[in-house]
Amino acid sequence: MEFIPVAPLSFLVVLSTVLLSSSSSPANNFTIAKPGCPDHCGDVSIPFPFGIGEGCYLDQNSNFRLDCKSSGPNLQRSPFEVTNISLEGQFRTSNYVGYDCYDKHNRSLKFNSPWFSLGVPYIFNSTANKFTVIGCDSYAFVKGTSDSREYSTGCTAMCNYKDDVEDGACSGIGCCQTSIPSGAWLINVSLSSYYNHSFVWSFNPCTFAFVVEDDAFQFFADNITNLERVEALPVIVDWVIAYENCSEAKINKSSYACGLNSECYDAKGALGYRCRCNQGYEGNPYLGCQDIDECGNPYQCGKYSVCTNKEGSFECNCIKGYYKDNDGDGRCVADSKKNNWPIILGVGLSGGAVSLLIFSFCFYSEWIKRKEKKTREEFFKNNGGIILQQKLSTTAQGGGTRIFTHEELQKATNDFDKSQIIGRGGFGTVFKGELMDKKVVAIKKSRGVNERQVDQFINEVMLLTHINSRYVVKLLGCCLETEVPLLVYEYIDNGTLFEHLHNRLKSSKLSWSIRLRIASEIAGVLSYLHSIASPPIIHRDIKSANILLDKNYAAKVSDFGTSRLILADDDQVATMVQGTLGYLDPEYMQTGLLTEKSDVYSFGIVLIELLTGKKVLEAEKFLSNQFLASLKENNLARMLDNNISCPENIEQLNEVAMIAKRCISVRGEDRPCMRDVERELVLLAAKAKEISIEVFEIDSSKNKALLGMHSIEYGICEDSASTGQYSASHFTTQQPLLDTIISSGR
Ligand SMILES: *[C@@H]1O[C@H](CO)[C@@H](O)[C@H](O)[C@H]1NC(C)=O
Ligand SMILES: *[C@@H]1O[C@H](CO)[C@@H](O)[C@H](O)[C@H]1NC(C)=O
Ligand SMILES: *[C@@H]1O[C@H](CO)[C@@H](O)[C@H](O)[C@H]1NC(C)=O
Ligand SMILES: *[C@@H]1O[C@H](CO)[C@@H](O)[C@H](O)[C@H]1NC(C)=O
Ligand SMILES: *[C@@H]1O[C@H](CO)[C@@H](O)[C@H](O)[C@H]1NC(C)=O
Ligand SMILES: *[C@@H]1O[C@H](CO)[C@@H](O)[C@H](O)[C@H]1NC(C)=O
Ligand SMILES: *[C@@H]1O[C@H](CO)[C@@H](O)[C@H](O)[C@H]1NC(C)=O
Ligand SMILES: *[C@@H]1O[C@H](CO)[C@@H](O)[C@H](O)[C@H]1NC(C)=O
Ligand SMILES: *[C@@H]1O[C@H](CO)[C@@H](O)[C@H](O)[C@H]1NC(C)=O
Ligand SMILES: *[C@@H]1O[C@H](CO)[C@@H](O)[C@H](O)[C@H]1NC(C)=O
Ligand SMILES: *[C@@H]1O[C@H](CO)[C@@H](O)[C@H](O)[C@H]1NC(C)=O
Repeated sequence: MEFIPVAPLSFLVVLSTVLLSSSSSPANNFTIAKPGCPDHCGDVSIPFPFGIGEGCYLDQNSNFRLDCKSSGPNLQRSPFEVTNISLEGQFRTSNYVGYDCYDKHNRSLKFNSPWFSLGVPYIFNSTANKFTVIGCDSYAFVKGTSDSREYSTGCTAMCNYKDDVEDGACSGIGCCQTSIPSGAWLINVSLSSYYNHSFVWSFNPCTFAFVVEDDAFQFFADNITNLERVEALPVIVDWVIAYENCSEAKINKSSYACGLNSECYDAKGALGYRCRCNQGYEGNPYLGCQDIDECGNPYQCGKYSVCTNKEGSFECNCIKGYYKDNDGDGRCVADSKKNNWPIILGVGLSGGAVSLLIFSFCFYSEWIKRKEKKTREEFFKNNGGIILQQKLSTTAQGGGTRIFTHEELQKATNDFDKSQIIGRGGFGTVFKGELMDKKVVAIKKSRGVNERQVDQFINEVMLLTHINSRYVVKLLGCCLETEVPLLVYEYIDNGTLFEHLHNRLKSSKLSWSIRLRIASEIAGVLSYLHSIASPPIIHRDIKSANILLDKNYAAKVSDFGTSRLILADDDQVATMVQGTLGYLDPEYMQTGLLTEKSDVYSFGIVLIELLTGKKVLEAEKFLSNQFLASLKENNLARMLDNNISCPENIEQLNEVAMIAKRCISVRGEDRPCMRDVERELVLLAAKAKEISIEVFEIDSSKNKALLGMHSIEYGICEDSASTGQYSASHFTTQQPLLDTIISSGR
C-alpha cells in the first residue's frame, strides 16, 4: 500500500501562507505588486495595496503609500519604518520604549513617556502585542483610544533584590505584562515609580514600558538594566481597507478593493475590510487571484489516476481498467477481483483502524464526560455542597437561609430584566427584586459557570451561612436549580460606601463619628473573619465599593466571592492574584502569597479613603502614595476631607492616619493584626460618641468557640482587651457549623 501525503501537504501550504513572512516565495509564482511597480525595497517585499510611487498603491486615503529609504532596507511610511507586510493584513513596525530613570540621589535623570499612533485604520493587534513594564520599583499605564472609546490599562513590576528576577518570568517580579484592548489605534504610555528607585537604584535605576510584539520580546533578568540602550521594539499592526465594511464597499464598484476571484471579509475589531482569494485560487487578492494548478503536484490524485485542473478546483479520473473505489476516498482500484483483495484488505484494515479510532474517541469523550460529572459531584460534595443543601433545607422552616425556586426569582426580578440591575460585581450581576411577600431582595447571578466560579459560589454560601453578623450582608438563600448559581441577599437601601464618599452631596453628611464607626464595624468583621477559625478566612477584596450602608449608616460587608480559607498548616497560600488595583497588597502582588495581612492592607486603604474622601486611584496617582507623602511632609491636613477636619477632630484624625499608615506597611509582617486595629478603632469610636459594644467570648485555647454574647460598656471592653479573653465584635455563630467550614476547607 502506498501512503500519499495529500492532507499534510495542503496543510503545509495553508500554514506557509498564514505565516507572517513576506509573501513572495518563489513557490507562489504570482506578482505581488502592480505591473511596472517595484515589489521590493531591500529585502522587504511590498504587496499591493501598498506601493512605492505614484500609481503603485491603492489610492484610498493614501494609507498605502510607502517610501523606500535608499540608505537601507527599511521602508518608511513617513516617518515610520515598516517591515514584513503580509497580505493577511498585518505588518511590523517599531515602537518607542518609554523610560523613567533616576540618579542615586532620587533625582529624575531622564524621562520619556511616548505615545504612538499610525492613524485610525491602523490597529495595534491585541493578541500579538503585549504591554510590558520592566523595573523593580515600577508601574506604568497605557492609555489611548480603541474604536471610539478611551481605554487604559497597566501593571506593576517590583522586586527587592536583583536575584529575585528570573529569566523568562514576566509575572510581576521585575517585569509585568498585560494585554491591550482590541481596536486600539493610539498607545500613550506613562511610567512611574513608587520610591524613585531609591531602594533598588544599585541594580535598577530605570523603569521601562512599551507595547511590544509578544513573540519578539523575551524577558531576561538583564533587561532591568540593559534596555537603556534600546530605543524601539517591534510591534504588530493590523491594516485594512478603510473605512467601510464589506456590504458598504460592494455597493460602489469603482472603489471596491477586492480583485477577481477574491472575496471580501470584515476585519474584526478594525474599521474596514480585507480581501482573500477564493478557495482554489492564489495570488494577491487586491490585484486578482489566479487559479491554482493543483495538478502541478504529481501526488495530487494518487496512483492510477489522471489529474485535470479546472477553474478553482481539479478532478481526478482513473485511467483505463481502474475504477473509483466506492468508499469515497477517490482512490482508483483495479477492476479485477484478484488484484483487488490486498487493497480491500488494506482498506478494510485502515477502515478498521479508523472505526477503532472513532470508537476509542467516542469512548474517550464519554469517559471524559462521566469523569467531569463525577468530579463535579465530588467537587460539590467536597466543597460542602451536599451539607449545604441539607443545612439549607433543614433550616428552611426556621426562617434562616432557604432555597428559592428559579420561578420565584424570575417573578421577583421581572425575568431578570435589565432595568432591575443594580450592580455588576466581581463575578456576576446583581438584580433588585421583590418577593411575593413584598420583601425587597438583591439577587446575585453568576456570569457563567466554570469550575472556579462554582467554587467561589459555594465559598460564598458556605461562609455566609456561617457568619451571622449585623455587619455582613445577610444571605437569605440561594437557588440551586439553575446551572447559573443565584444568591439571594437582603437588600441594603443606601448604596455603597464608595458612592457615599465620592458623591459630594452624600459625603458632606458622613460626619467623622459616622466614618469612625463604619471603620470600626468593618474592622470588626475582618477581625472576626481572621480569628473565627484556625484556618483564617480572608476576604481578599475589601474596598469601599464592597461596603454597603443601610439607612442608619451601618456598614455591611459584601462580596465574599473571592474569600478564602487559609489552611491551618500553611499560613500563606499561593493563589492567583485577585483583587482591585489600588487596594491590592503590593506584597501579595509581588509574591502571590496570600495572608490575612493582605486584608489589613486593603482595610488601611479604606481608612485613608474615609479620612481623605479621595478616590484610591485617580489620574494615575495612587492615593496611598499621596497619603504617605503628606505624612512625610508633616502635612496630613492637605489630604483630609474638609468636611471632617475641624479642630476638635484633629487628634483623632491623626491617630487614625497612624493606624492607616501601619496597615499599609510594605511588609506584611509590619502591619498590625485586625484584632488590634479593631480594638483601637472601637476605643476611638467610643470616645467620639458613646456607643455600646457587643462582645462575644473567644475560647483562646482553641481560638474558635463562641460561647455567648452580651452587651458591655466601653470600660469593660478595655479590660477584656487586655486579658485577651474578649474581642469587641458583633457576631453570633454556632459551633457545629463552624466545624463544617473548617473541615470543608481541606
Ligand atoms: C513565474 O512566472 C513567470 C512568468 O509568468 C515565468 O517566466 C517563470 O518561469 C515562473 N516561475 C516559476 C518558478 O514558475
Ligand atoms: C519577517 O519576519 C521574519 C520572522 O518574524 C524575519 O525573520 C524576517 O527577517 C522578516 N523580514 C523582513 C524583511 O524584515
Ligand atoms: C531617597 O528616598 C528614600 C525614600 O523614598 C529615602 O529613604 C532616601 O534617604 C533618599 N535618598 C536620598 C539620597 O535622598
Ligand atoms: C522623586 O522624584 C521626583 C522628581 O524628581 C521628586 O519630585 C520627588 O520628590 C522624588 N521623591 C522622593 C521620595 O525622593
Ligand atoms: C491579530 O493577530 C492575530 C495573529 O497574529 C490574528 O489572528 C488576528 O486576526 C489579528 N487581529 C486582527 C483584528 O486582525
Ligand atoms: C498622552 O498622555 C499625556 C498625559 O498622560 C497627555 O498629556 C498627552 O496629550 C497624551 N498624548 C496623546 C497623543 O493623547
Ligand atoms: C534582554 O536581555 C537579553 C540578555 O542580556 C538580551 O539578549 C536581549 O537583547 C535583551 N532584550 C532587549 C529587547 O534588549
Ligand atoms: C456595515 O456598515 C453599515 C453602516 O455602518 C451597517 O448598517 C451594517 O450593519 C454593516 N454591515 C455589517 C455586516 O457589519
Ligand atoms: C465611489 O468611489 C469613487 C472612487 O473612490 C468615488 O469617487 C465616488 O464618489 C464613490 N461613489 C459613492 C456613491 O460613494
Ligand atoms: C460639610 O460641609 C458642608 C459645607 O461645606 C456643610 O454644609 C455640612 O454641614 C458639613 N457636614 C458636616 C457633617 O460637617
Ligand atoms: C437612604 O436612601 C433613602 C432613599 O433614597 C433616603 O431617603 C435616605 O435619606 C437615605 N439615608 C441615608 C442615611 O443616606
